Amino acid sequence: MKDLTIASIPGDGIGKEVVPQAERLLKAVAELHGGITFDFTSFPWSSDYYVEHGMMMPEDGLEQLKPFDAIFLGAVGNPNLVPDHISLWGLLIKIRREFEQVINIRPAKVLQGIQSPLANPKEFDLLVVRENSEGEYSSSGGRIHSGEDEVAIQNAIFTRKGTERTMRYAFELALKRGKQVTSTTKSNGIIHSMPFWDEVFQEVSKDYEGVRTDSQHIDALAAFFVTKPEQFDVIVASNLFGDILTDIGAAIMGSIGIAPAANINVNGKYPSMFEPVHGSAPDILGKGIANPIGQIWTAKLMLDQFGETELGTHLLESIEKVTSKGIVTPDLGGSHSTEEVTSEIIATLLNKKQYS
Ligand code: NAI
Ligand code: MG
Repeated sequence: MKDLTIASIPGDGIGKEVVPQAERLLKAVAELHGGITFDFTSFPWSSDYYVEHGMMMPEDGLEQLKPFDAIFLGAVGNPNLVPDHISLWGLLIKIRREFEQVINIRPAKVLQGIQSPLANPKEFDLLVVRENSEGEYSSSGGRIHSGEDEVAIQNAIFTRKGTERTMRYAFELALKRGKQVTSTTKSNGIIHSMPFWDEVFQEVSKDYEGVRTDSQHIDALAAFFVTKPEQFDVIVASNLFGDILTDIGAAIMGSIGIAPAANINVNGKYPSMFEPVHGSAPDILGKGIANPIGQIWTAKLMLDQFGETELGTHLLESIEKVTSKGIVTPDLGGSHSTEEVTSEIIATLLNKKQYS
């Protein structure tokens, strides 16, 4: 029996609506499997918590999270109560950084029955592997002087260690998928870090002879995500480039409400964290219509991470069976509630008579 402990942080807004639904689904997954259990512990850390305690999580919050097998997060942010930079840095980014979640993965694919904004999306199915700890999002730099003499310096930090481990992670995933890795670069314009990035990519690719590789400048690649996304399998990108690409990835799928993400700790010292791409969506809060698929697909990434890839695949197939029947929330043009969509996915999942 595999007993998995999950720290659940619903957070703010619709996070509180979709996380309980995804937990309900994971309980059904465990029932179907028979050899695995999920033990959820819920933490109330959120903007409401901040109003009461003056911080997003307690001083020893990270210590409390450390023993868990994974963190399952909804969304963080309630700008009416707490400025976004405080809520984000006080919880989400703190966990990502302190728990060395150095890789961020975000899949994007056409789900049956969901209308992509692309006229001809074909059957794209891609996965962006984003460096999650350094690169352009480094705190190195500063501002000096003021007025017309003011100077702002923002350093991009690329370490060999960070660059190489991100690329290796991408290649390892490609071996299990379409055996193709595209490197995202801009070595024609950024003259130090990006030629370095290209060199490391060349070196790492030598260890993976069975994987096809190519390298694209970020501007061209952003356009290709719109014109021919079906040509890509795994894409490896720096922190900033990956951030931009994954928003396009979410957009071409049809709704931000379905896009999943995972923040992976690769050294085994801390838990990884699984969260949907969307935020707390205050505009639809309390209506019961938040799309649960982003959070549920995130649970699939968590199953993959636990080595339960067959179960994860079955979960994604169950999601697609439901979307193909038009049982979807209003953001996808449907009229079903968060709870109805989840119940339908659970019923579809359990319909498979026996799981082996
Ligand atoms: P958002 O993702 O919350 O909402 C953008 C739009 O997408 C809204 O119209 C919303 O109704 C819709 N939407 C989002 N998720 C949906 C779902 N599951 N089902 C149906 N519709 C959905 O982004 P926004 O409005 O910019 O930010 C709101 C708050 O969330 C802010 O405080 C922001 O800082 C925070 N945020 C947090 C993130 C996180 O926790 N990872 C990511 C993005 C934003
Ligand atoms: Mg972004």
